[in-house]
Amino acid sequence: MISKEKIDEIKASVNIVDIIGESVALTKAGRNYLGLCPFHGEKTPSFNVVEDKQFYHCFGCGKSGDVFKFVEETRGVPFAESVQIVAEKAGFQLDIPLSNRQVEKTNHPHQVLYDIHTEANKFYHALLMTTKMGEAARNYLYQRGLDDQVIKYFQIGLAPQEANYLYQHLSKKFSEADLLNSGLFNTGNANTIYDAFQGRIIFPLTDEYGRVVAFSGRIWTESDLANKQVAKYKNSRGTAIFNKSYELYHLDKAKPVIKKQREVYLMEGFMDVIAAYRAGIENAVASMGTALTGEHVRHLAKYCKKLVLTYDGDKAGQAATAKALEELKDFNVEIVFLPDNMDPDDYIAQHSEEALVNILTKSRLTGVEFLIQYLKPENPDNLQMQIDFLEKIAPIISQTSSITAQNSYIYKVADMLADFDYQQVEEVVNRARISSRQQRQESNQIPQEQHFEPPRQEVIPQQARITNLIRTENHLLARMLEHAYILNDYRLREDFYFITPELQVLFDILKTNGEITSYDLAGLDEFVQRAWYRVLEEKLPQEIGTNEIEELESNRYREQIKRDNRMKLKTVREQSHVGNDDQALDELTKLIAQKRNME
Ligand code: GTP
Ligand code: MN
Repeated sequence: MISKEKIDEIKASVNIVDIIGESVALTKAGRNYLGLCPFHGEKTPSFNVVEDKQFYHCFGCGKSGDVFKFVEETRGVPFAESVQIVAEKAGFQLDIPLSNRQVEKTNHPHQVLYDIHTEANKFYHALLMTTKMGEAARNYLYQRGLDDQVIKYFQIGLAPQEANYLYQHLSKKFSEADLLNSGLFNTGNANTIYDAFQGRIIFPLTDEYGRVVAFSGRIWTESDLANKQVAKYKNSRGTAIFNKSYELYHLDKAKPVIKKQREVYLMEGFMDVIAAYRAGIENAVASMGTALTGEHVRHLAKYCKKLVLTYDGDKAGQAATAKALEELKDFNVEIVFLPDNMDPDDYIAQHSEEALVNILTKSRLTGVEFLIQYLKPENPDNLQMQIDFLEKIAPIISQTSSITAQNSYIYKVADMLADFDYQQVEEVVNRARISSRQQRQESNQIPQEQHFEPPRQEVIPQQARITNLIRTENHLLARMLEHAYILNDYRLREDFYFITPELQVLFDILKTNGEITSYDLAGLDEFVQRAWYRVLEEKLPQEIGTNEIEELESNRYREQIKRDNRMKLKTVREQSHVGNDDQALDELTKLIAQKRNME
């Protein structure tokens, strides 16, 4: 029998809201949760889950109870088994030989595959821990910072450098057909059977109940490490018990901690999860060397709603983060960004366990903050790149529910861009919000079967794509094109140049050739070509105004100063943000001097 204390402990380690939430859609209503009663048919919800007292009650049919009662009633099982089920969800390993569980065990259609994996796991682990060759492999692991406790906890093993050592061992106990179905063996010429893993350090992969369902093997010998042809990791192929798009490394042991902390770390590699564990972070999991799938996400959603993405800091890791964010729309996501292309395992090696804990818990970005960093224009002076960036980021910012957060994002974005200030970015974000609302309404009016993605509207109107400075310079260049004498004037002014780099390119050609032919144009950069057509689009009156050129000049000057000041202010903020107070002060002094001059 399970003791009363154990039952209380099991009950205390789960949240009834999560367990009922697995089968009943619940919405928060005041302090309680409300949903459609699973015990009687109803259209308006009267089924209440009271979180602080951990029970449920239906005002419609009167049923009520605690988490065990709920499992008894919905699954039709006796009390002892409901305790067992809840315990399993909470990650408890109860070693009670419940008779009906044993029946269930032997009846499982793939039980033999689990048994093969259990045996193989014991075999690999013993080989690592007790043999001469195992000693060399253990030294590799020690040198990577693992100790015997960690090796044991993760049940790491070693596959010998031989063709069919495991097969010989297991064929005494299991049939050839079963062994071939396990995914641990391959057939060669003349029906020889050989081990899929040879000469690799073995990481057992378990399902969420702790059953070994597959393995991953890493190279470790000098010769393999030196050979670029050999894959670093090799995983079991998919089998009846292993779906790599669903399983997550370490989920079985991480589960209770995930529930308690209400968050999970998702990492790229096994060694990263191990690094986190070494640092005392036990709620980390990893996918099996594949991108995060919808199946993974639904799997994790059973345990919590908050995920800390901790992918590698390199380019590939950042791209994977951006992609994972799309899968994780229903999760509260935070991102830890490791510096210098490091992964958590590199980070612990370079720094310390404390440093890893620190960065994992304290330096988190929101999804939007990450995307701002990730999508930011390579060259923040290039107008087209700024516009492309705004088109992408504005809809994302506009979906943020917190106004404070939204303001800080707008601020950040404006800070990055040379030609947009806070108001302009805010305007673009607002337009993005309105346009997505309209699109939603329109798509609601379309009958389901004809549903199609509405085309993405551009959120920055053509007119706003040109800053005052560029507009002024376009105007000036347009006048030079029409009037040779104006072009001549400027040709003679050696200190004159266009601030907009694309226009300067055009001006240089004009100065030497007197015109710009389609031939010239074809050889130019895409951005310059666009700039050229913008100049041609200028609709100017035939007559030149008396002071038109002078006014353009002074406009241009004013806009240039404004842009300079914006850039300086940004440097000030950046410098003081990273703690370079001297530099910040220096820039600020220049800025103030500049402003005085203008008055
Ligand atoms: P270490 O080099 O041991 O620290 O591993 P890592 O976690 O830094 O490796 P990496 O970031 O390169 O890969 C992350 C995960 O991708 C690994 O844990 C594996 O699951 C998977 N992976 C890496 N290399 C290979 C490979 O060559 N083949 C396969 N199938 N999977 C791989
Ligand atoms: Mn690594």
